[in-house]
Amino acid sequence: ILAYCLTFILAYLIGSFPTGVIIGKTFFHEDIRKYGSGNIGTTNSFRVMGPLGGCVVLVIDIFKGTLATELPLLFHLDGPKYLLLVAGVCAILGHTYSIFLKFKGGKAVATSAGVFLGYNLKFFGFCALIFLPTLFITSYVSLSSLISITLIFIGSFWFHDIFLTIIAGIMMIILFIRHKDNIKRLINHQENIVPFGLWYWY
Ligand code: G3P
Repeated sequence: ILAYCLTFILAYLIGSFPTGVIIGKTFFHEDIRKYGSGNIGTTNSFRVMGPLGGCVVLVIDIFKGTLATELPLLFHLDGPKYLLLVAGVCAILGHTYSIFLKFKGGKAVATSAGVFLGYNLKFFGFCALIFLPTLFITSYVSLSSLISITLIFIGSFWFHDIFLTIIAGIMMIILFIRHKDNIKRLINHQENIVPFGLWYWY
């Protein structure tokens, strides 16, 4: 039990690593929290730092979720498999309520993807198949994230893994809570559109 507690704390600390802030300050000499949506995640990193900075933040934020999910295996802990998902959720909580940012943080999209990647490759592929077309069609990262996590939660029943479904449900709740401002902006037609989306051309 102690080993698992320490693993979960480490997973939280990994998730807490504020990638967007660190990459922004180190390589672009900017605090991305002062620009765009003010968020520390991938979308705002693309907005503020461009494709290179955005991709680096995306990869590292996904990796945080994957690494945290794999921690029990790396430490050879032989508990039930669902504890991998618990470690993943600790990383997501770290990302969204980071100890290094006075318990503020990102919106959990990339890190959640990383958790699915670490837990079940097929399920990760399923998520990507839902998210990418949804992003193209809706043209808003926030809206597509919310639609996708809802569809992913529903679709998870198909994988016959009750823990995966429970965790997808928890992620859905976290994502909706963290996207409160985006939802307001979407309703007021003030949300930032992505330049490769279908609606961008209208
Ligand atoms: O990456 C999170 C995304 O869903 C929204 O980000 O910066 O547009 O609020 P942002």
